[in-house]
Amino acid sequence: MTKKRRSAGWYGKLDRDGFIHRSWMKNQGFPDHAFDGRPVIGICNTWSELTPCNSGLRELAEGVKRGVWEAGGFPVEFPVMSLGETQMKPTAMLFRNLLAMDVEESIRAYGIDGVVLLGGCDKTTPGQLMGAASVDLPSIVVSSGPMLNGKWQGKDIGSGTDVWKFSEAVRAGEMTLQDFMAAESGMSRSKGVCMTMGTASTMASLVEAMGLSLPTNAALPAVDSRRMALAHLTGKRIVEMVDEDIKPSDVLTKAAFLNAVLANAAVGGSTNAVVHLLALAGRVGVDLMLEDFEQGSEIPLLVNCMPSGQYLMEDFCYAGGVPVVLRALAEHGHLKRAKTVLGGDIGAYADGAECYNNDVIRPYEAPVKPAAGLRVLRGNLAPEGAIVKSSAATDALLEHEGEAFVFENIEDMKANIDRDDLPVTPETILVLKGCGPKGYPGMPEVGNMPIPKKLVQQGVRDMIRISDARMSGTAYGTVILHVSPEAQAGGPLVLVQTGDRIRVSASTGALELLVDPAELDARRAAWQPDLPDYTRGYAKLYIDHVLQADRGADLDFLVGKDTRPVTRESH
Ligand code: FES
Repeated sequence: MTKKRRSAGWYGKLDRDGFIHRSWMKNQGFPDHAFDGRPVIGICNTWSELTPCNSGLRELAEGVKRGVWEAGGFPVEFPVMSLGETQMKPTAMLFRNLLAMDVEESIRAYGIDGVVLLGGCDKTTPGQLMGAASVDLPSIVVSSGPMLNGKWQGKDIGSGTDVWKFSEAVRAGEMTLQDFMAAESGMSRSKGVCMTMGTASTMASLVEAMGLSLPTNAALPAVDSRRMALAHLTGKRIVEMVDEDIKPSDVLTKAAFLNAVLANAAVGGSTNAVVHLLALAGRVGVDLMLEDFEQGSEIPLLVNCMPSGQYLMEDFCYAGGVPVVLRALAEHGHLKRAKTVLGGDIGAYADGAECYNNDVIRPYEAPVKPAAGLRVLRGNLAPEGAIVKSSAATDALLEHEGEAFVFENIEDMKANIDRDDLPVTPETILVLKGCGPKGYPGMPEVGNMPIPKKLVQQGVRDMIRISDARMSGTAYGTVILHVSPEAQAGGPLVLVQTGDRIRVSASTGALELLVDPAELDARRAAWQPDLPDYTRGYAKLYIDHVLQADRGADLDFLVGKDTRPVTRESH
């Protein structure tokens, strides 16, 4: 206990400042030996009843505390802003960077030596990691864990994915509204995050693949008692990490990010992982580029989970979870050497992993799809790139030329998508503007706009959709997302008009607006910027400073880190 710790600057001083820091903490009943120089471990908790996916984190925090005390540390839990994906308007993504600021400043301002990040719902994991990376104290993740499989009328149903399917069935007249509403309770029947391979389980899987959590963190159901044990073990480990001085910058190397790209392909992960990984890389100074995601494009889809497959996270857990995927990647020479929170190489997470269900986690030689990674598209419609999730797309539509039908904004789309006289065919390319980081604001998950009702009723279930928006990790379809620059930043998307022809080629990575350049110049000359009407507060700050999707939609002044000690006192 002789090593001088960061927390000693708060609790180790035998003076008026030390008195103040210790005395007020003692009002909670902490004994003298809590302040004897042992590591102070912050437990950064995004628990909230308004973030139902994170509603089990109070219990997990208790598990972490047991482990911290056992290892000789002093655990202190603190709340940060929580982001309920299904509850926040206009979109939780608007607030991811605000959570990151909250996490960063909380960690920096308090006398802690290491941090356990308790998150789960989509934006909470990346927001916490971004903030922690910018302070760069030893940090480790415990995720909420997925809900139990949804059950309805004797079948498994998946969060999000079956919402989109059922709502299309209602619009097609194939399902009653009563049945649709009756499925609500069966879909979400335990604490935890979406149990499809949506953004939450994707980010938890990538956290594990990057070695930022203990093995098996991603897939253990939220209510499985083994998750509580994992929290306990994580509490023990963070105390050791402080002594070993293993920081996010030691773990978050380029190799770790590339392992995440590969794992994202193999698990059929969310397109949202792209913006989150790019933003996180910016915090630690790793030059991750949109093109790096192409490295996953030839990786087979191994995990047969919705929305790209048929099973759910509970099945993935029982089949062996992320360690089995990492083993497959390692055995085929893809997994790169990278340090983990355990201090060794990520290969140790894969060692000895056994698959207990070959249909849920397919063998490398018999995958769900042979080449499943995200495709990056570029061209005069997306000079800074766009992406499409090929594993969840219709193969025939990935090479297509068609006529655009344009919605100028989300209100336009909602008001007109179900018009009986909408002039669209299955070959039409739907274009939606005004849903990027600045334009909405916050880049919502509306890119998977509904199929026009008249086509749904004809049995059409997929068509090409292009936008500057994101889409839910639970969604599917041939949906081209994150078009950069966005329309409101003056990207070429803003110039598209109904009737223009667009060419999409996933095989060559092309996204072209087939309109004469002189005509585009004339349209640009007539364009008037039209940003959302926010004149104050965080939203104004966000619109003024948000970067485009190809830079992870972080705020420009938050890129990078600041690890300088805080020396001044408040009294
Ligand atoms: Fe929270 Fe899906 S809505 S994880």
